[in-house]
Order: sequence, then structure tokens, then C-alpha cells
Amino acid sequence: MLLTKYYEDPSVLHVGTMPDRAYYECYGENGQKDCMMLNGIWKFQYYSEVYEVPDSFGDKAFDDGSFNEIPVPGCWQNHGYGQHQYLCNFYPYSYIPPYVPHENPCGAYRTVFQVEADNLEKKAYLNFDGVDSCFYVWLNGTFIGYSQVAHGTSEFDVSRYLQKGNNQLAVLVFQWSDGSYLECQDKFRMSGIFRDVYIQFRPQNHIRDFFVKTELSEDYKKAKIDIELEFLKGLMDVQYSLYNQEGDILCSAVIERGQETITVNNPVLWNAEQPYSYILCLETEAEEIRQRVAVREIKVKNAVVYLNGAPIKIKGVNRHDSDPIVGYAVDYDHVIRDLKLMKEHNINAIRASHYPNAPWFPDLCTKYGFYLIAEADLEAHGAANIYEGACSKTFGDLIQREIFDEAVLDRVKKCVIRDKNHGSIIMWSLGNESGFSKSLETAGRWVREYDNSRLVHYESSIWETGNHKNDVSMLDVYSKMYDSIEKIDEYFAQGEVEKPYMLCEYAHSMGNSPGGLEDYANKFYSEPRILGAFVWEWCDHAVYMGKADNGKKKYYYGGDFKEKLHNDNFCLDGLVYPDRTPHTGLKEYKNVIRPIRARMEGQSILLENMLDFLDAAETFDIVCEVLKNGESIRSKNIVLESMKPHETCEIPLMEIPQEQGVYHVKISYYYRNAGEFIAQGDCAGFDELCMKDDYQIAERQYKGNLSDIAVAEDEKYVYLKGSNFNYVYNKHTGSFSNLYYNGQEYLNTPILYNIWRAPTDNDCQVKKKWEAAGYPSALNHGLHTNVAREKECITITTSSLLAAPHVQTIAEINSTWEVEKNGRIKVKIELQKNEIMPDFPRFGLRFFLQKPLEYVTYQGYGPYESYSDKHQASYYGRFDSTVEHMHEDYIKPQENGSHFHSNYLMLSDRKNKKVEIQSQRPFSFQTSYYTQEELAGKKHNYELEPAAQVIVCVDYKMGGIGTNSCGPEPDLIYQITEPKIEFEFVIDIGGEE
Ligand code: GAL
Repeated sequence: MLLTKYYEDPSVLHVGTMPDRAYYECYGENGQKDCMMLNGIWKFQYYSEVYEVPDSFGDKAFDDGSFNEIPVPGCWQNHGYGQHQYLCNFYPYSYIPPYVPHENPCGAYRTVFQVEADNLEKKAYLNFDGVDSCFYVWLNGTFIGYSQVAHGTSEFDVSRYLQKGNNQLAVLVFQWSDGSYLECQDKFRMSGIFRDVYIQFRPQNHIRDFFVKTELSEDYKKAKIDIELEFLKGLMDVQYSLYNQEGDILCSAVIERGQETITVNNPVLWNAEQPYSYILCLETEAEEIRQRVAVREIKVKNAVVYLNGAPIKIKGVNRHDSDPIVGYAVDYDHVIRDLKLMKEHNINAIRASHYPNAPWFPDLCTKYGFYLIAEADLEAHGAANIYEGACSKTFGDLIQREIFDEAVLDRVKKCVIRDKNHGSIIMWSLGNESGFSKSLETAGRWVREYDNSRLVHYESSIWETGNHKNDVSMLDVYSKMYDSIEKIDEYFAQGEVEKPYMLCEYAHSMGNSPGGLEDYANKFYSEPRILGAFVWEWCDHAVYMGKADNGKKKYYYGGDFKEKLHNDNFCLDGLVYPDRTPHTGLKEYKNVIRPIRARMEGQSILLENMLDFLDAAETFDIVCEVLKNGESIRSKNIVLESMKPHETCEIPLMEIPQEQGVYHVKISYYYRNAGEFIAQGDCAGFDELCMKDDYQIAERQYKGNLSDIAVAEDEKYVYLKGSNFNYVYNKHTGSFSNLYYNGQEYLNTPILYNIWRAPTDNDCQVKKKWEAAGYPSALNHGLHTNVAREKECITITTSSLLAAPHVQTIAEINSTWEVEKNGRIKVKIELQKNEIMPDFPRFGLRFFLQKPLEYVTYQGYGPYESYSDKHQASYYGRFDSTVEHMHEDYIKPQENGSHFHSNYLMLSDRKNKKVEIQSQRPFSFQTSYYTQEELAGKKHNYELEPAAQVIVCVDYKMGGIGTNSCGPEPDLIYQITEPKIEFEFVIDIGGEE
């Protein structure tokens, strides 16, 4: 087919489309929506290039009998056409803007719909809410237009092309266009008609566009609601009515000249915590438009952001439209599920990264209470990845080209004009990661001019590239990504700060992540000029490929589709799995952004309301418990009269028993009232304060007769025979290789010294160092072993060297193993590290225990996996679990399931086999059916093969998690850098006789 190549011509962005307008729904005289959805099963044919498409494709009579069928909305890659490709920040084709490959796949869509005679009297608008990348449209054989901007709405006036009865719509969608250069967002690159297609039938003259703005008096006692109307064919009378949320009418009148200001006395103001909204109805003779109105004001004063006069903190996430089955074509229920999960996890803000979401999305944010950053469909990230490119060098290369000036402005306008009436939007974003340019400055100025009721943001303005001198005067916030806390401090250390600071992305949640959230939160709360931050990102992106033989879901990521160019599993960086099962990272985030915080203040507990609008005492029931050794021994309800936003409140400390033990006070916050997404009694978060940390190693119960241990020794082994056990110690490994107790073997592989972990995604940088230092294959090389008989035990000491092939000694180790007559083993390890060697991922001992030992009881941080810098979702408690359950099944396998700060661990078969490990000084541990080598070696969780044994790692420390896959290294305090390590614990096998 020969077509005018609009798809390679940035001077032609849209042909035959209506000017942009606000998105709204209209209702006809009978109260029905005046909208005919064309979604459904359409005829479809995939062509690998336009030249294969028959010339007559757009004709009404074109025979599409041989076409296949496809659902609209949808992405064709999810229906077996073309190829999936996951790319973060690369262009998938040659960088020759505005040209795209000649082999530019096309999706040819056709559908037939009926129109009744009545509707032919009306104006008819054909709308596409989202098509990737660009499309040509024919109606009843006539070409009616072309459009692009994948996540924008394109509206065509089709009134004169419609016919009574059958109408034939043909749409040819191109995979790539010049617009794709501006859509280089980090996502699976999918194609097709992925959002609603519908026709709106409207009266001959009608409200075409309108803008509702709210303004508040200084004392917030009066609100002005400004309404500006634009008509298709000149002024009309419009009856407006304003309803409150309860449905009572507040005022009503006729707007005669297209403009009206309504004054509301004592308005109920909107905020994310109390999303109160009004409904404005605009009625003309034949039509009614309903618009939710949020009365609120967003302002910056002295670099602090205020909503309705109150300083606010953003606790946000970046959200993509992404689903493992339907790709971009997420529906209402999908979005509601996301919003519900977010509310349940205390999230109060969303950045629509990196494009406008479905047009009905901002309204849901207003309704349910989320601050929204609406972002233009604009990212030219690939320009930073050309040959010799870099953010600091070539970032702006694409958008600084004048041929794209119009497109840049068009994209920003499309976003702002469509979404302008939604109160949830507190900030416009000019786009993402495209460098900076004159065109973006122009767009920013246009936004300021068009809508002065919100803030403007654009992170990439920090990069000055090419010959362009950046002017950031139209931007209201200083927005950054992935700054470390030191970097944030630098911003505030420079003296006078003009703009609020915001992290539009941080806490890269890839795999086992994010670490260090609590430290960020403390920083954010300590500085009012920090507006807050958005975690990158909400969900893992992947493609669901059915179930594997072992019943696990198969999720494919970059490279799994044999794409030559891809960014691997960088798309698995969300707080939820693709099917929205929360990661432990989401649980962590939830408690880091809990609504109340508690801390010790002298002999009392100080509670602080971290919310910006709600009285915490009215919102939550507060329950205080005393935990002894992780178990609740007492609890009481705390009744507070009031705790206004940011206020503190002192409560007396509960009495802590004198006896030895580990004591905590746990304060939990439960929702008092049920909300749309929150059930009464749901826990919003908790604090746990340590009162006494005096773990007592339990004495071993032994009822049999204890005789002295018989000792034998040869060159390699030491053999110990007690009344109920046979242990074999391997002098070469400096550890036991057999532990035979009460007729059962527990080990048959020597206990290993372990300084390795299956790298997490966040270890991607540091692992290079670790690997170069030989950590994955480090083994202990025993040098001298001494066996001594003491009064009550046999003491074996070994000096050894920890080393790996082709590298020097990693550490010197002296270990002492005291075996008591009852079989208990006290282990003491002293390690002196070779200081040239890098930090350790972990240090501890690895046991390969004979199955079955599936049940686990522990006292430490649970119930979720916990690490030194990721344990806010967990608390010090006593938990029962199983080895299977303790595995966190990341799609790309990696280190998981560790438990921080533990004093006690027991594995048992709940019959006659058990192993207990205890230490006064808390340790980390992990139990798993998968070895670290298995986890590190497999690309997908469904490929994992369980080992023949239960692997138990008992670690002096496990290194922090951090967010270094796209963020700073973990803070030094979470790294294992100490040159000297002393580690002691006790092993009891068999337990009570
Ligand atoms: C940012 C970008 C995001 C995402 C993230 C890494 O630079 O804005 O879209 O790519 O990095 O996952």
C-alpha cells in the first residue's frame, strides 16, 4: 500500500483530528452515556511492512475474509503477532530521526458497527484513547485522518462519513513512527490499539471543551470555582448545578456567556487523605456533562509545598500501565486493583510514568485520594545511548532538533488539555529523560500560561547538553532521581534553596529490594523543603507464558523472546509481581510510610502523627503490646483524645518485667473506620521498640546418662563418640562433616564457611568485585587442628585460610568447636580479613542438612525476609514457618529469605528430628531448598531445582540490600567491611531425649 509517509514526517502530527479537549463523559436526554463503544473482536492482519498491505485495505468493499481476529483494545504482541522486545533506554532501530525502518510492521484492523438513523442527525466523534505508535483511519472507504502520540486521545469528527446501518471502520497501525523517537520509555515495546475506541454522538452545538479551576481565599473559608466553557459553534445557555459529595445540590444557575464563577462558603477541601469532591453538572438542552471537582490549592512558599495551606509529603510510586497478559491494555478493574493495593500500603501519590494513563485514570485518583503527577508522553532516552553518547553529552540531541519542536509541544499540550479538570493532579510533568531543549522550555512556559493552578516538573532539566543553555525558570521543583542521602544533603548545603526538592524516582525496587528506605524516610521527614519521593516502580513488567510443569507461572522478560537488543530483567523492578502479588519491598514501604511513628523519649513513648490532614487519634485504634522473646505477653488499647497532623503525643511506657529476656513494645495502628479500600481493623503499620536485649541461651534438656566422649583422630578427621552421637570433624575444612545423632545422620557434607550469596539485582555492580576476589568459590583451607579434652567437653581448634582459586588469602580463620557431653556444639569463629579484599556479601556457615527438616521456628525479624537495611515490615518476634514458605520466589532467582537479627532458629520434622541454633549476639539466617549456586545459575524461578538437602546458612551478618541496580551503593553501615569478625553460636542436635 502506498501512503503519504506521515509516520516519518514530524511536521505532520495529526491529520483530520479535532483540537485537543478535556476528557469527559456526556449523557444524553435519557441519562444514558452518549457513547458507542467500538471495543470488541475486530478483524486483524499483521504485515511486516506497509508495502505488503493491499492498496484497497481502506475500501469499504475490501474483502477481509482471510483476516484473523483480535480483541480491541489489545497489543498485537500478546496475541502472537510480531515480537516482544523489552528495552529500557535504547532505540530499537537505527538512530536516523525522523526515519524508522522500512520494515515497519503494521496491524491492519477492521470492524463493522451499526448506526441508527437518529444518530445521523447528531455530531459524531470517533475517539481513540491510545494507539501505539501511529495510525491511519478510513471510514466507509474514505480516508478520514491520521494520528500519533500513543498515549494521547485522537478525536475525529466523522459526522459526515457515517451511514445508517452498517459502517465499516479500517485502521492501519504502524509499529514505529517519528513519534516513536519520543516514546523511548522503559517498557516492553508493544503495538496496537490498546485503549478504548468509541463514538460520541452529540448535539449539533455543544460544549466542546471546558476548564474548571478552583481558587481559595486566604483563610480557606471561601472557594471560587471558575468555569470556562468553549462551544463548537458559538455561545449556548448552560445550566450548571453543583452537588456536594453527599448528593445535595448547593447551587444552580444558567451560564449565559460561557464563563461563570461559583462561590462556595466553607468548602470541604480535597486532599489525598480525605478525598472529598463535589460534582459539577453542565447541562445543555440535549446533554449533560458531569465533572468531579476537587477544591484544593497547591502552592510553594520558601521551597515548601503546601496543599490547602498545609505542608505535604509525597509517599509515592511510579506507575506504568502494565499487565502480564494484556500488556498496555489495562482495564478499569486492573487499575482499581492497583489503587486499592496502593491505599492498603499507605501510598498517597502516583507519578504517571511516563505518559498519560487512561483518560479516566486521573478521576479515580481524585475519587480515591492520590496526588498525581501527570506526565506528557515524551521520552527520548535513546539519544543518550548512541555511539559515544551519554546523559551528560547527547541527552538532548533528539529534542534539540527543530523538526521535533512542534511534536514536543503537542505532547505536553495533549496531556495538560486532556487532564486539566482533575483535582488529583497537583503537578504537570513535561516528560521523562529527554535532556533539555528550547522546545521543552517553550512547552513549560505554555503550561504555566495555560494553567497556573499547578506545579511544573521536569527532572531531565538537570542535564545541559549540546549548545543549549538551560532555562529552568518555568519549573517549580528541583526534581532528581536516585540521589543518595549525601547528595540530598549537598543540595541543602549550598545555602539558599529556591525550589522544593523531590525525588521523582528512587528506591529502585528490582528483585530483592529496596534497601535503605527507612533512612530516606528519616531524611524526608527531617526537611520540610523535601516534598517527598516516588519509588521506582510499582509493578514488575513481564509477559505471562502459561504455567511450567512444576505449576509455577512462567514470566518472560527481556531476552526471553530472543530479541537481539534488550535490557534483560531490568523490567522486573516493581513493588509487586506482574500479577500484583506484593513483593516484600511493598510491605517494607508500607511500614516505612506508616501514618504514625513511635519513639522512646525518656521513660515515655512519643507518638507522632505523620499524616498531613487527618487526626490520627480519630483515624486509628492504637494497640500497645509487650513482647517477651518475641511473644506477646500483654496488650492494651491506647485512647488519645486528639493527635492533629504532625503533632506528637506522649504515652506512658508499659511495665517491662525484670526477668532476663528480649523485651519489646510493639505499637500497632489499626483503621478505626472502614473506607472504600480499607476494612475496619486493617493494620496501617506498627513500631517496635526494643526495651531489653538480653537473650538467654536455653539450657539443653538431656535425660540420658552422659559419659565421656571417646575421641579418635587421623590425618584428616577427628572422630567423636558420645553417649548418643557420632560426630566427624574434617580438619581440612575446619568444620564438621558428619553429625550423627540418636540414630540419624544430619549432615553428610562438611559445613562450609560462606562468604557468598546468590547476587541480588542490586549486587550487579559490587558482584564484579566479589567475583574478582573469588568469593563465589572461596573454601576454607585448614592448617592446624588441635583436639583437647576439657572437663565437660572436647575442644577442637583449627587455624585455617579462606581462599579461592587464583587469588590470595581472603581471610585467616581460627575456629573453636566445643563439643559437650550432651552433643551440644559451641562454635566460635575469629576471622581476620585480608584488608585488600572487598567487603563480604555475608559471613557465616552453611549447613547441608539431611531432609526431612521442613518446619522452622525462629526468634528474630519476621515474618517477611529481613536484612540490615530492609526490615521495617518485619519485627522481632517468634515465628513458625516452613522451609518452602521462607523462599521468596523472585522471577529472576537471587538471594532471598534471610532473617535479620535473630537469636534462635530451629528446624524439625515435627517427629523426632530437630536442630537448634542459638546465639546471644543476634545473627542472620536462611533456610532453603535451593543452593545459592542454583539461585545464581538460573534465569527464572520456574527453572529452579531443589537440592537433596535443606540448606541452612547461619550468618554473623548478611550484607545490606540497597538499591544499587539503579541507585547508590548501600550505606557503609550495611556493608560487611570490618577487618575482624568474632562469631559465636550454639548448635543443638536432636534436642530432648
Ligand atoms: C530511570 C527511568 C525509568 C527507569 C529507571 C530504571 O532513569 O526514568 O523509566 O528506566 O530509570 O528502572
